[in-house]
Amino acid sequence: MSEQPKSAAAITPRKILVTSALPYANGPLHMGHLVEYIQTDIWSRFQKMRGHTCTYVCADDAHGTAISLHAEKLGITPEESVARINKERIADFGDFHVQFDNYHSTHCEENRELSSAIYLALKEKGHIASRKIVQAFDPEKQMFLADRYIKGTCPKCGAADQYGDNCEVCSATYSPTDLKDPYSTISGATPVEKESEHFFFKLTDFEEFLKGWTRSGTIKDETANKLAEWLDSGLQDWDISRDAPYFGFEIPGETGKFFYVWLDAPIGYMASFKHLCDRTEGLNFDEYWEKDSDCEVHHFIGKDIVNFHCLFWPAMLSGADYRTPTKVSVHGYLTINGEKMSKSRGTFITARTYLDHLNPEYLRYYYAAKLSSRVDDIDLNTDDFMQRVNSDLVGKVVNIASRNAGFIAKRFNKILSGTDCAPELTKAYMEASETIAQYYEDREFGKAMREIMALADKANAWIDEVKPWVVAKEEGKDQELHDICSTGINLFRLLMIYLKPVLPAMAEKAADFLQVESLNWEDSQSLLFNHGINKFKPLMTRVEPAKVDNMMEDARKLLESMADTTSKKEEKAEPAIEPLAEEIEFDTFAKTDLRIAKIVNAEHVEGAAKLLRLTLDIGEESTRNVFAGIKSAYAPEALIGKHTVMVANLKPRKMKFGMSEGMVLAAGPGGKDLWILEPHDGAQPGMRVM
Ligand code: MSP
Ligand code: ZN
Repeated sequence: MSEQPKSAAAITPRKILVTSALPYANGPLHMGHLVEYIQTDIWSRFQKMRGHTCTYVCADDAHGTAISLHAEKLGITPEESVARINKERIADFGDFHVQFDNYHSTHCEENRELSSAIYLALKEKGHIASRKIVQAFDPEKQMFLADRYIKGTCPKCGAADQYGDNCEVCSATYSPTDLKDPYSTISGATPVEKESEHFFFKLTDFEEFLKGWTRSGTIKDETANKLAEWLDSGLQDWDISRDAPYFGFEIPGETGKFFYVWLDAPIGYMASFKHLCDRTEGLNFDEYWEKDSDCEVHHFIGKDIVNFHCLFWPAMLSGADYRTPTKVSVHGYLTINGEKMSKSRGTFITARTYLDHLNPEYLRYYYAAKLSSRVDDIDLNTDDFMQRVNSDLVGKVVNIASRNAGFIAKRFNKILSGTDCAPELTKAYMEASETIAQYYEDREFGKAMREIMALADKANAWIDEVKPWVVAKEEGKDQELHDICSTGINLFRLLMIYLKPVLPAMAEKAADFLQVESLNWEDSQSLLFNHGINKFKPLMTRVEPAKVDNMMEDARKLLESMADTTSKKEEKAEPAIEPLAEEIEFDTFAKTDLRIAKIVNAEHVEGAAKLLRLTLDIGEESTRNVFAGIKSAYAPEALIGKHTVMVANLKPRKMKFGMSEGMVLAAGPGGKDLWILEPHDGAQPGMRVM
């Protein structure tokens, strides 16, 4: 048994710290979360396979009101509740093969120390301000109430049980103090107003720094453009304190004042890493976090938490004299069969419900196949999921091994031959190594999967052409059969190397079948000759439709059994970065009714940061009311009288500020650089755009 000499280009080893966002410890892990943890895990496994020192850490985000309320409902302490959730989570992550080097909690000593130290450093440099603010207070619970914990009767239409900022019945907007008969959703008591001193991080001190940092290659333009909207419209100081009772860390030097959960949450990345360094020979905290460190720090996050990671966090680090992140990689949101994941729509699937029915590697592959470096949302379409996994993994990859392994076992004593009989093909496989590696590095996992499947197609086409099952029946062609099947097995091995970051368990089974110690990236530059292998066992079976149906059914049952504890308001605000659309058929496009519209009025919308209210004439009897997110680019007066293009048959959408009856089209990177489409010659309101 021998291997060809290795010819992989030498790779300079890097020291990389990787993180995923710290999941809130107030509910089960779900399919949406997994987009992020699977994406990060694939990237981190890839880096390790390449021979880099890569450390992947995470933790539970344990602090804040939502977490203590969740515990209170269960009649246990927040610490107990966090511990319970932590146990389930570790099991879920493990079963999905998400391999952290450390999984910690933000409620730990390392985090308390680091948070205090960073706060004190910022304070010493004058980046912390304090002032008194007036807030709603629950006299029964003796606690201040965030807006989402206040409900009451709408001052406009009288609808009961409306939240503190807008009415879901009549769409009126107001402030919580305008509500009639307001009550605390926590105790039912009538809130009173109370003054209290708060501490603020002066983000404004970092405006210039952030303008540079966000454009220095740390984040993709798509996200940087979005941030520029905030940066250009002026930053505001950030309220980082909460009054007792609050589950968190007390602010050093103050009594009854606690850090707001989002202050110590990102510091939790450092704390988890510190906890690991303290137990690991050769891993040095300061080497990674000191200013001008040569090591890399990569954060993976969802698009809903960009401001925390790309404004507050780098500013805090820079202000406290630490290094800032090398990269912040932002992914989109998961939808299930085209629907937003939500409890009310019945599209909420927990990680455990999935695991009860399906192989975790199906999902890892499916997500990989759909992921890119962009912020696009990704859809888990159950039919597409089955089709893709069955056709790619089972039909293409596993098939190569199963078509050849039998002959090697039956006819050649489980030993591979010494000849590569498809040198063109094996060469193409080896040469694809750096292209695929670059795709992984750039988080273009979908492209990597397509490249790998194209290679698999080539192997299958070659096998169809040389027909080992025919050769097997021919007299005196033993050597030919041996060489064909051995080459087939070698091609399968190279595919498994490239797929290993995505399919670690299957790769392990493949390594066992191939009788090799490991499958590292550089192994892709060699072939196995005169090498003994094991008996072939199926490495992956087809996705069975019944199992997918059962999973969906279980998800629905679980929802029914769960009292709907997550109120609409506790879900996060609409993500800041909008997804790009997928490909559509012409017929779908043809359904869009595009019309010339005359802007007869345009005005500011009170309380809306980005929207203008447009009144559009499209030649109908009444005008249309449309909200357009173009405030950063246009003064209302500049729009009145212009012609533009609108989507006239868009289903009216109830927004916080009223009904929007259509949409106007605009183009540009965003911020000031946004232009509505302006038709000129002969445009008349109501004309169809073709
Ligand atoms: N605790 C904060 C993060 C603190 S990081 C210092 C938080 N937690 S979370 O549990 O709400 O979300 C954890 C991660 O999962 C976030 O990056 C979030 O974007 C991601 N996702 C949560 N739901 C998601 C989908 N439906 N789809 C894709 N990612 C989603 O935010
Ligand atoms: Zn109302």
